[in-house]
Formats: sequence, structure tokens, C-alpha cells
Amino acid sequence: MRTESKKWVVASAAMLLGSLLIGGAIAHAQNAGAASKAEITAAEAWAFPVYPPLAELQAPPPHPKELVHIAGSTRSYTQAQIDQSTPDWFPQDHPPASGIVAEARKPAGSCAECHLIDGAGVPATATPAGLPKAYILEQFAAFRAGQRGISAPRTSQDMRKEARAVTDAELQLAANYFSKLKFVPRARVIEAATVPKMHWKFFVQVPDKSGAREPIGERIVETPANFDDYQYSSDRTAYTAYVPPDSIARGAVIAAKGVGTAAACGSCHGATLQGVGAIPPLAGRSPTYIVRELILFRTGKRSNPQAAPMVQEASQLSVKDMIAVAAYAASRK
Ligand code: HEC
Ligand code: HEC
Repeated sequence: MRTESKKWVVASAAMLLGSLLIGGAIAHAQNAGAASKAEITAAEAWAFPVYPPLAELQAPPPHPKELVHIAGSTRSYTQAQIDQSTPDWFPQDHPPASGIVAEARKPAGSCAECHLIDGAGVPATATPAGLPKAYILEQFAAFRAGQRGISAPRTSQDMRKEARAVTDAELQLAANYFSKLKFVPRARVIEAATVPKMHWKFFVQVPDKSGAREPIGERIVETPANFDDYQYSSDRTAYTAYVPPDSIARGAVIAAKGVGTAAACGSCHGATLQGVGAIPPLAGRSPTYIVRELILFRTGKRSNPQAAPMVQEASQLSVKDMIAVAAYAASRK
């Protein structure tokens, strides 16, 4: 995760500007009171990863030669190796990964760097494991064309750069690899009125040392069960996703019947939300990611032609609806 974070930041100074712009848009929406559908509101900011201070990202590892282990793996890597390329803690979990999937080829990063070697991803990125190949190719076309990841969040801009940096042969290799992987859900969804107070660390929320709690309000708080697993890019990193009370049952109704003029999610994504044809699965995926994408659809930041039904759908959903349906989807296996 360290390497990835560093690359994310060092990659483009323009990205910093991007974040300032998002910050501005959020503040503006807050001042305006009622936000337009084209803006990310202050009430939605939690779904977007917060960037660590540059100095933190660029700091050299304190002990580059120290051997790192993680629970359950027989392997070990030095911190310097981890910073060099994504470790493969559990080679038994996935077929051999080659080429761009596992190794960077400048200016392209390796897919594993941001999505882990088994495609499980982290809440700040996405989960390519088990996505339909046609959908992966379509999304690359969208990133390349600037129809996805245009202005917010900054992480999307990285994917746009990445999509333009990889060759078509690399894309085929990666799309074949990830579409054949079995997706393993990593987040346990827990309804809770109060949650541990959190701060952002390397693009993810972690509990404050004080152990203090606060009301959850209208948001999802997704945190790694073990920060070491996360920071050392373990593809078995487990997450706890706290959601407001009653979200899951409410989300089940939206998935099955829709809400207001929004159609039932199941009518396109399949009754069990496992995906249909090139329409991606939602079951078991990071609930933070699901909400973030719904916001990006609504604000027109996913504007490829295939996204049209989702732009329509997301514009009919309140933040509360999005949280509920994401909580339900994430709790499915
Ligand atoms: C520098 C980090 C980075 C690298 C390297 C990277 N990605 Fe991504 N990728 C992202 C982020 C961040 C997103 C989510 C963008 C968003 O929030 O919309 C993403 C999204 C995706 C998506 C869309 C997933 C979905 O469900 O819609 C696919 C597919 C994908 N990446 C595949 C790949 C492949 C294949 C590679 C290697 C060739 C790769 N990525 C390399 C950061 C990266
Ligand atoms: C009319 C059909 C339709 C309905 C109804 C629908 N979806 Fe979708 N959804 C799609 C399509 C098509 C895509 C893929 C868009 C693309 O290819 O860019 C998609 C993509 C998504 C994605 C992005 C997944 C990813 O991997 O990035 C999310 C999240 C999503 N839908 C959530 C929902 C939720 C939640 C509901 C119900 C509230 C819903 N959808 C209802 C058709 C639909």
C-alpha cells in the first residue's frame, strides 16, 4: 500500500489540484444548502478517500530491510521489496499472475498495485475480480475516452491515466486474468447506531487510539479488521463496514422493488445481484465503493453510453437509499 500511495501522489501534481477543486465543490454545495445533482455534496464526502499528507507518502520506509510477515502466510518480504512491487502473500488463492497484472511497466502501474494480486481491491479503488470481461473492456474504453474519472475523485484520474498507458495486449491479458478470478467478499456489514471515531490513514479509515465512539449518522464507515494486512497489501484483508440501523432490510426492499421512480436493482443486476451479462455484480462488494459509484453516476462522472440507465437510476436515489442498498448488496455473498 505504501508504494501504491506514493505512486498515486507522485504520479501527478495535477491531481492535487483536482482534490482542491472537489473540496471547493463540496464547500459550495454546503453553502448553497440544496445541492444540485451534478455536485458531490458535503453529506457524501465520506465516500471519497482522503489523501494523506504528501510528506507521509514520500517518507522512506523506516526499516527497509526489516522482514515483514502477515498472519496466515508462510512468505516474508522486506519493506523495500513491498515498496518495489505488490507482495503475493497467498499464491494459492489465484492463478499465476504475469505481465502488467503483477509488474509495473512504466508509465503503466501494475494492476496489483491498486487492486491487489487477486483483484479484491481496497475500498478506495475497485474490485476487478470476477467482473465480466466485456464490462472490464468497456470500462477501459470509458476511462480512455475520459467518460469515467474526469474530475473526481482523484483516484479515478489515476485509472484514466492507467487505461491510457496500457497496450491493448496488456489490457486483454489483465481482463482475461481478472474476469476468470473468483470474487471473495471481504467486508462484514454491521448495523450500528454508534461507531468508533475514525481518522484517515493511507486512503482508509482507521479507529482513533482514544477508543471514542460517535453516532454513525448517514454514512458507511468501512475499516480494515487488521491495518497491517491492509498496509502490506494482503489480498485477504478483511473489513468491517458499519452501516446505520435498519439499512440492510431497507436496501433489500429497494433491490427487489425499487424506490419511488427508481427501478428495482435486481431487474438489471439479477435477483441475487450477481450481475447479468455485461452488467456487473454488486453482491458482496465494498459498500463504500457502491455508494461512491452511485454518486459518480448521478453527478455525470460516469458518462459512457452504457452507464445511461445508471445515471437515470442514481438520480432517483437519496443518500439514505444509496447507503441502504449498498449495505444490502455488500451483505450478500
Ligand atoms: C494507480 C492505481 C490503479 C492502477 C495501477 C490500476 N487501477 Fe484500476 N482502478 C483504480 C481506481 C481508483 C478505480 C476506481 C475508480 C472509481 O472510483 O470510479 C479503478 C477502477 C478499475 C476498474 C473498474 C471497476 C468497476 O467495477 O467498474 C477496472 C475494471 C480496473 N480498475 C481494472 C484495472 C486493471 C486491469 C489494471 C491494470 C492494467 C488497473 N485497473 C490498474 C486504480 C488503479
Ligand atoms: C435499468 C437497468 C439497471 C438498473 C435498474 C440498475 N442498474 Fe446498476 N448498472 C446497470 C448497468 C448497465 C451498469 C453498467 C454501467 C456501465 O457499463 O458503465 C450498472 C452499474 C452499476 C454500478 C457500478 C458497478 C461497478 O462495478 O462499478 C453500481 C454500483 C450499480 N449499478 C448499482 C445499482 C443499484 C444500487 C441499483 C438499484 C438502486 C441499480 N444499479 C439498478 C444497470 C442497471
